[in-house]
Amino acid sequence: MTLHAEASSTNALAAADPVVDTLIVADHQTAGRGRLDRTWETPPGTALTFSAVVDPDLADHDWPLLPLAVALAVADGLGTAAAVPVAVKWPNDLLIDGAKVAGILLERVGSDRPLAVIGIGINVGLAAEDLPVPTATSLRIAGAAVDRTAVFAAVVPALSAILTALRADPGAVLERYRSECDTVGREVEAQLPDGERLVGTASAVDRHGRLVVAGRAIGAGDVVHVRPA
Ligand code: BTN
Repeated sequence: MTLHAEASSTNALAAADPVVDTLIVADHQTAGRGRLDRTWETPPGTALTFSAVVDPDLADHDWPLLPLAVALAVADGLGTAAAVPVAVKWPNDLLIDGAKVAGILLERVGSDRPLAVIGIGINVGLAAEDLPVPTATSLRIAGAAVDRTAVFAAVVPALSAILTALRADPGAVLERYRSECDTVGREVEAQLPDGERLVGTASAVDRHGRLVVAGRAIGAGDVVHVRPA
């Protein structure tokens, strides 16, 4: 494990020199990356930000399940360390009372044998005035435990466990995701990468990890929960 007092982005460092089974942790990131080319900003000392480099050892068609599986692992870890109910919003946002407490950025690197850089950002000790956006929250705001080391110590083994489960039985992990994903059954608004907006009921997560909204399977995009269906 490498711990940086300050780094641009742990995902960027991991992707620049990917070594299997290493963890890169930053006390603070100056150029944190989010999904969909967004940034991920947190004030120094308040968030748990780290990346793991793993060899998922999955068939190509099971790779899309990896980001979903990691969300289950982060939910498990937060449940253990912070004893707070965490919901999974498709594909891999973690919510407390509908507000985002953690995000995951998965990047595929390497050419001969693909590796995954799994970047995890968890808002641990942010106060309300620190929140980058009003739709975010933190463990502290939720009244939960706020020790970053304890959260890290719970999330890392949960990540390792879900990777083992995914290699052994991808279908079983997908079934678990389907039953736990809070998006399924909700009315949602999806912003697709090409700018199209799709509104409708999220009825399922398909075999490829895509969310089925109004009968269309979407593989990437920003989804907002509108209300329970
Ligand atoms: C998202 O929800 O948009 C994903 C956020 C992922 C943030 C984490 S923080 C650690 C790792 N390094 C990065 O630059 N991003 C991820």
